[in-house]
Amino acid sequence: MLPFVAIVLSYLVGSITFSIVIAKLFKGIDIRNHGSGNAGATNTLRVLGVGPAILVLALDLLKGMGSVALARAVSDQDWLPVACGLAAIIGHNWPIWFKFKGGKGIATAIGVLSVLVFIPALIAGVIAIASIFFTRYVSLGSLIFTFLTPVFIIFLQFNWANFIGTLIICIFAFIRHRSNIVKLWNGTENKLGSKKGA
Ligand code: G3P
Repeated sequence: MLPFVAIVLSYLVGSITFSIVIAKLFKGIDIRNHGSGNAGATNTLRVLGVGPAILVLALDLLKGMGSVALARAVSDQDWLPVACGLAAIIGHNWPIWFKFKGGKGIATAIGVLSVLVFIPALIAGVIAIASIFFTRYVSLGSLIFTFLTPVFIIFLQFNWANFIGTLIICIFAFIRHRSNIVKLWNGTENKLGSKKGA
């Protein structure tokens, strides 16, 4: 398979924003009109409950993991897994199948990073989960995870392609969490377990 085809395929699969699909199937609703309005696992938990949220999380993770695995099967160059992982996250955030209005890309990024840079992502993930446990802010944990992964890459597993790729993933995450950052700053961000909406 040509590298270009793998990148396009990753974008198209990434564009299957599973929270939108599952919310439509389970409840006949558009998840983007409910809760925080985000098409992601956290908002699925808020709106539909634990079961659908776990399903969304697993499927969004898998498409991220699959994009990197596909790239590794196609080429042994460092840049292709990064490009395919980014394409899957771009698809999730700006999905061609759903009028380019998708999610914030965190579950897909976890899938991408767990295959691309396992050890840095694992350490960043443990710190992020601890921050969610203590603060109950999923958005804060998501930002910590994407910020710390490139930091740990510098110390543990440096490689230019992975470093630049994870930096771009971090920038995407901060851009997509703009409203969460404002709410975190104002102390009005939704906590995990709260049924409050946006
Ligand atoms: O991954 C998304 C999460 O960080 C925030 O989701 O719905 O609370 O904006 P939400």
